[in-house]
Amino acid sequence: MNSMYSKEVMDLFKCPKNLGEMKNPDAVGEVGNPQCGDIMRIYLRINKDNNKIEDIKFQTMGCIAAISTSSMVTELAKGKTLEQAKKITNKDVAESLKGLPPIKMHCSNLAADALKKPIESYENKKEVK
Ligand code: FES
Repeated sequence: MNSMYSKEVMDLFKCPKNLGEMKNPDAVGEVGNPQCGDIMRIYLRINKDNNKIEDIKFQTMGCIAAISTSSMVTELAKGKTLEQAKKITNKDVAESLKGLPPIKMHCSNLAADALKKPIESYENKKEVK
């Protein structure tokens, strides 16, 4: 079943890292893809002194690839500064998962976008203050 996916994708789908809700996050952001209807939400805990992502959680309603890519993007972002995390691309996500089927590449796009949302909202909030 689901042999079109790599072992890495299936492992993260079955046992997703960083899955769940975060209480009192420093930032939260959500994206959706209107075509497939999948939704991803990412929560961030940010160290104000060094701007590093100390903790990160995600909730995703979507396909196998949506769950695996959002879990992978949180793994890639953990411990990084916001500047570094912003540079994580859908290609990084797909490569870390040893590839995705072509029809599922848009799921990794969604995951990379989902990470940028809370970062943007955190940075915008800071500017207002
Ligand atoms: Fe749309 Fe996976 S099918 S994110």
